[in-house]
Amino acid sequence: MTKLRAVKGMNDLLPEELGRWRRLESIFRETAERYGFGEIRTPLLEPTELFVRSIGEATDIVEKEMYTFHDKGEKNLTLRPEGTASCARAYLEHTVGAREAITRWYYLGPMFRRERPTRGRYRQFHQAGVEVYGDPGPFIDAEIIDMLVRFLSELGIVDLRVLLNSLGDQETRQNYREALIRYLEPHRGSLSADSQRRLETNPLRILDSKAPEDQAIIEDAPSILEHLSEEDQAHFDGVRRTLDRLGTPYEIEPRLVRGLDYYSRTLFEVQGRGGELGAQNALAGGGRYDGMIEELGGKATPAFGFALGIERLLLAMGEAEDESRPRVMILAANDEARVEAVALARELRDAGFNIETDLRGTSLKSQLRRADRSGAALAFILGDDELARGVVQWKRLEGEGSGESPREGIASVVAELLGQKVG
Ligand code: HAM
Repeated sequence: MTKLRAVKGMNDLLPEELGRWRRLESIFRETAERYGFGEIRTPLLEPTELFVRSIGEATDIVEKEMYTFHDKGEKNLTLRPEGTASCARAYLEHTVGAREAITRWYYLGPMFRRERPTRGRYRQFHQAGVEVYGDPGPFIDAEIIDMLVRFLSELGIVDLRVLLNSLGDQETRQNYREALIRYLEPHRGSLSADSQRRLETNPLRILDSKAPEDQAIIEDAPSILEHLSEEDQAHFDGVRRTLDRLGTPYEIEPRLVRGLDYYSRTLFEVQGRGGELGAQNALAGGGRYDGMIEELGGKATPAFGFALGIERLLLAMGEAEDESRPRVMILAANDEARVEAVALARELRDAGFNIETDLRGTSLKSQLRRADRSGAALAFILGDDELARGVVQWKRLEGEGSGESPREGIASVVAELLGQKVG
């Protein structure tokens, strides 16, 4: 029989990995709530048309990366490739704009894109993101970029670059698009096949090309920043001024365009420089998308947001301590000690410690061997002698040391041995 395996690019997350995930998620929630965001959860499936209309027909996502199927007798449905379009749909559907002037939402969850899987790039991956509706900026743009940078630094990710650009409003982009085509047209023959195709469909994306033959041409391309209108320029200056005041470092990158067509004015991306990331170094990205709500049939509503890739952040963080793993293993020599081990474990769990027991009835030697491999910091050992004398034997599994402590008041001994406060 052929072995059944998970779908390519889609991963199981096992308990030993999820400790770090949950820590990241809970810090994200705390940060978002501190900034006034409320959580939203939207369905994983949406009408295909939602993504076609919001993300844009000429994007890689819509052209080739969506998981779309025909729902028996109904319409085409797509597994969401990102969260922004779903949030905008929900914002409209629940007429949120009629009830509140400013809306701040955050979300966490799986997204689906049929990309070529590699380290840091998956077909089911996880994002955490935020969206703000009703504030035209520029100050909110800076506030949210700064929030993201502070969140990353709380995770210990400080080796990063914040790339900032402005795409201007629709008119600016139209003017720039024409200027870009005028510049690129004479080089058409030297461009990569992909870029030649994009010259017709989505010339701005050529600036994003990784093809070696495109690089020198892109290098000399006109800059969108030279095409900004007065209002666009004032907006961009406002973002920069606020970031400067906050001391949030950023670099202006006029060639930053990103893979979604809905952006206007502020656009940014955070890149990591950690060794484990490799080429997939975009940790997070976002920007302003003032046209989307209207595009989806609502009244013109300014919007700004970002999303980060949880898998990539975990790669950038490296191997941090997994705090959810049991810190103490309780081992027992016989059935009577096993009864006592269950009681002792409950007492220590009530005191806030993560405890695992080994109650199988194997030899103490094999229990100790397993405890050693488990990643726990301490082993407690109970046998006839310990029960009779009202004590517990302990042994450090990280580093050296062993001893005996009275069973009474054992929680404070655990706290002392683990170097932490009783929970
Ligand atoms: P995005 O740049 O497409 O933006 O994705 C945001 C982040 O998700 C990326 O920086 C990356 O960390 C992660 N990511 C994207 N694709 C993959 C993948 N195949 N495997 C692993 N991680 C991935 C958006 O999705 C926009 N919705 C962001 C936004 C929110 N703009 C405004 N509001």
